[in-house]
Amino acid sequence: MLYTYQTVARTVYGHGAASQLGAEVGRLGLGRAYLVMDKGILKNDVHAPIAEALAAAGVATDIFSDVELDPSPASIERAATGLKSFKADVIIGIGGGSALDSAKALSLLAAHPGPLEQYFGMHRVPGPCMPTILVPTTAGTGSEMTSISVLADLATDSKKGIVSKHLYAKTIVLDPDLTLSLPPLYTAYTGLDAFVHALESYVNLSATPFTEGHALQAMGMIAGNLRKAYANGLNREARAQMLYASSIAGMGFSNTQNGVIHALGMAVPAKYHLPHGLLMAAIAPMGIGFNCIAAPEKYARIAGILGCDTRGLSASEQARRAVRGFTSLLRDVNVKPGLQPYGVKREDLRGIAERAAASARLMDNNPRQGNADQLETLLEEHY
Ligand SMILES: [Fe+2]
Repeated sequence: MLYTYQTVARTVYGHGAASQLGAEVGRLGLGRAYLVMDKGILKNDVHAPIAEALAAAGVATDIFSDVELDPSPASIERAATGLKSFKADVIIGIGGGSALDSAKALSLLAAHPGPLEQYFGMHRVPGPCMPTILVPTTAGTGSEMTSISVLADLATDSKKGIVSKHLYAKTIVLDPDLTLSLPPLYTAYTGLDAFVHALESYVNLSATPFTEGHALQAMGMIAGNLRKAYANGLNREARAQMLYASSIAGMGFSNTQNGVIHALGMAVPAKYHLPHGLLMAAIAPMGIGFNCIAAPEKYARIAGILGCDTRGLSASEQARRAVRGFTSLLRDVNVKPGLQPYGVKREDLRGIAERAAASARLMDNNPRQGNADQLETLLEEHY
């Protein structure tokens, strides 16, 4: 059996790293940057240190600030119109997962014909895309490190991923200072999503020692710092640990994909407009409980990372403690498990289960296989 491991070529990180953006564009030999962000980033001037660094280096810029929460292909097409008239040669994505995924999808449309829907799935992008530099302002999606762009698929009322090595960023810039203003609730949602990325990568059937190393490191850093970052957003060291952990998790899961928690969460109808991280956090306890009989040794290790005392317990009892450990983390950051607390209607559970079971990218390498009936029962039991 042969394996490959791939990741982003260059990572610039540290407090104040945003000041390096101009130099990084120059390093790539480029000079016309199209900045992709949402209205909140623009309004709150989160992008200001980046814009200043680009201006100081003589990089011409234009801004697209209409990134959608669950980006639709139509929103990317609108961005592509602006990008082409500006004659950009590099895309800089600034923000959370939606902005970074929009930047990646835009890099695709800048180089290849639409519609974007034809690229949903694995490895359907025919060649290189426009270069991207990605700058996360949340510590959660790990999107800056992955070759995945998740978009809303209006035809099926769900989210779908475009996965291609051509979507890897040329450079990523991790500046923890850009995450200081993230409110506690979003610190919790995004941080829990990052933990789930590491967890689902660690237990994945396609995990290797390379990806497991990333996953274990990321889970330990998040378990030790999420509560601190939630309790005091100005804790710069906790913010740095969370941002780096989120990226390290991304380095792993970009090579393994996620599992049943993401399959279920991404199948929740887009009409509810629930944040991705919230869904992952709310579904994680049932996903851990479902999977843990398939890989008890790994789940026992996760329980230990989450601070559970597993002494004297059998392997399967230790594994089940991971549910308790994660639920305790949820409680401390004020997030409730299950879908009912967030207004998801019971009549939608069957559809969620069916779409999740059909999600080959996420379920094929999940440690426990599950059909729609099993997943529906799981959703019902933990509603
Ligand atoms: Fe996620």
